[in-house]
Amino acid sequence: MRIAVIGAGNVGRALGTGWLKRGHEVWFGVRHPADAKYRDLPAERLATPAEAAAKAEAIVLATPWPATEAALRGLNDLSGRIVIDCTNPLGRGPEGLGLVLGHTTSGGELVAQWARGASVFKAFNTTGADNMADLSRYRVTPVMFVAGDDAAKKPVVMDLVRDIGFEAIDAGPLRIARLLEPFAMLWIDQALNRGAGRDFAFAVVRKG
Ligand SMILES: NC(=O)c1ccc[n+]([C@@H]2O[C@H](COP(=O)([O-])OP(=O)(O)OC[C@H]3O[C@@H](n4cnc5c(N)ncnc54)[C@H](OP(=O)(O)O)[C@@H]3O)[C@@H](O)[C@H]2O)c1
Repeated sequence: MRIAVIGAGNVGRALGTGWLKRGHEVWFGVRHPADAKYRDLPAERLATPAEAAAKAEAIVLATPWPATEAALRGLNDLSGRIVIDCTNPLGRGPEGLGLVLGHTTSGGELVAQWARGASVFKAFNTTGADNMADLSRYRVTPVMFVAGDDAAKKPVVMDLVRDIGFEAIDAGPLRIARLLEPFAMLWIDQALNRGAGRDFAFAVVRKG
């Protein structure tokens, strides 16, 4: 599949590199493709965000939340395309790092407003980038929930989730991003504030 990963930081690199290994055609959409910090990525896979998105069937948002609206507006018409939103709407308040919105909306739903006409899915937001880069040491397969309204395109996104190595679970419509973003915050709080570190992931275990 032709995939544009917008942002080549922790998440963008982990996912883009994983999909390249699985034979997908990936472009990393970055603001300064010639920057030395991207030298470890294949030069022919680097493009500007708009160039990368123009080539792709699926656009993956791996930008910091405050930059996400501007990053999306810098892409051309995304009608009919898959957009996978990996972001978490994080900001700092009096109690430290937390979500800047929720309950009655979500980052995923705002992304859908900004990417009008695209099929937007929330995924890859509920675990750390290190896990996205390498799941090989887990004895139980970690889970990744996928929320999105386009039932016809959801199987494609679920397959991309499986290609990275997660158990893919359909979480329902995009408004379930209202649950997935606080769920991500639980992972972040465990990792950063409760001593769990980054080498843990959520998984679903079943009776029988
Ligand atoms: N890190 C994690 O473990 C993790 C896990 C799950 C979800 N997330 C979420 O995933 C998103 C990315 O996290 P990250 O840790 O990968 O962040 P990061 O390492 O800071 O990388 C963000 C990338 O976005 C690019 N960027 C910034 N503004 C942009 C713009 N206007 N247009 C295009 N690209 C832009 C940056 O490029 P420049 O270098 O040019 O600034 C950078 O490559 C965040 O929303 C985060 O909450 C992170």
